[in-house]
Amino acid sequence: MQQKLKMSIGNDSKLIDNCNRHLNYLRISITDRCNLQCRYCGPQELIPKLSHTDILTYEEILRVVRVATRLGVSKVRVTGGEPLVRKGVYEFLRELVASEGLKDVSLTTNGVLLNDNLEKIQAAGISRINISLDTLNRSKYHDITGFDEFERVWRGIEKAYRMGFYPIKLNIVALRGINDEEFVEMARLSFRYPFHVRFIEYMPIGQADFNPESHLLVPEIKDRISVLGNLVPVQEAAHDGPAQRYRYPDAKGEVGFIPALSQHFCNTCNRLRLTASGQLRPCLLSDHQENLKKALREKGSDQELAEIFITAVNHKPSDHNLVPQKPAHICGQMRAIGG
Ligand code: 5AD
Repeated sequence: MQQKLKMSIGNDSKLIDNCNRHLNYLRISITDRCNLQCRYCGPQELIPKLSHTDILTYEEILRVVRVATRLGVSKVRVTGGEPLVRKGVYEFLRELVASEGLKDVSLTTNGVLLNDNLEKIQAAGISRINISLDTLNRSKYHDITGFDEFERVWRGIEKAYRMGFYPIKLNIVALRGINDEEFVEMARLSFRYPFHVRFIEYMPIGQADFNPESHLLVPEIKDRISVLGNLVPVQEAAHDGPAQRYRYPDAKGEVGFIPALSQHFCNTCNRLRLTASGQLRPCLLSDHQENLKKALREKGSDQELAEIFITAVNHKPSDHNLVPQKPAHICGQMRAIGG
C-alpha cells in the first residue's frame, strides 16, 4: 500500500483496497437538506443543518470527481439529503455528466420535485434514477415522510417512465408494522411497468428515533411476495450494485432485494462516499472518514487529494458489523452521508 501512496495519478490508476476490492463507484451527497422528514432517517429538528460554507461547492465536488476519475472511478451517484432541493443542481448535473472518464451518472431522489424537473434531468444526460417510495398509500406516505406528497411523487414516476428514463428503481425500506402489508402490491408494479422494485432492509443509522417492532429481513420479504409467482434470478450485469435481482416470468420489470443486514455484501462492495460536508467515507456503516474539504480549501494539489482517496481506501473495513439482533448506531446522519 505504501507504494500506492507514491503513485502518480492519471495513468490507468485503480483504487484497490486491502481486500482486493476495486473501488470505482463514488456516491456523492450534495446536500444534507431534505423536503421530507422520513421517520427512519433521523429527526431533522434535533440535527443542525450544515451551513452553505460547510458544504462543498459544485466546483469543489467537480474537482473531487476529476481526481476520482483519474484514480479509476467510473461511476457516480448523486444523492442527499434530497439532491433536487439544492440550487443550481441541474447545471451541476450537466457538468458532472460531461466529466471525462465517467461512464455512469445516476440520481437518487425522493421524487417530490421530479414531475416539474424531469426535462432538466434528461437534458443533463441522466437516465438512471432511483426513487424512494416506501408505500403506495397516500395517508401512509404522509405518516412515514411527514408530508402529503404521494400523488406528486407518483405523477413524477409515471412521467419519468413515459419520458423513457431507464432503469427507474423504486426503493422501499422494509418497515414491519408500517408498510409490510403492501409488499405484494409493490412487487406487482413490476408486471405493469418496467420498474425495478427494490426492498431494502432497514439499517439503524444516526439518531433515527425510529425502532421498527423488529427487523424484517429479505427471506421473509421474498416469502411474502412469492404469492405472485416464481422469482427467477436475473443475470448480473457489469455495473450491478448489491441488489439481488429477480423477475417474475412475464413481468416487464424486476424485483430486487438489498439484504444490508441479513447477508452482508461487503466482499463485493465497490463504493466510496463523499458527504455533503466534504468527508470521504470508505464505508456507509463505519464512522471512519477523511477530510477532503480541508485539503480542497487549503489549496491542496491533485496529488494530495489523490492521497486522501488512497488513505480512505486503505481504511475500508473488510466487513461492517451490523447484524439484525444487535443493531449498531452510526454517528453520521444518513441524510448527510448519502444513502
Ligand atoms: N435503512 C435502509 N435504507 C435506507 N434508506 C434511507 N435510510 C435508510 C435506512 N435507515 C434508503 C432509501 C433511499 C436509499 C438511498 O436509501 O430508500 O432511497
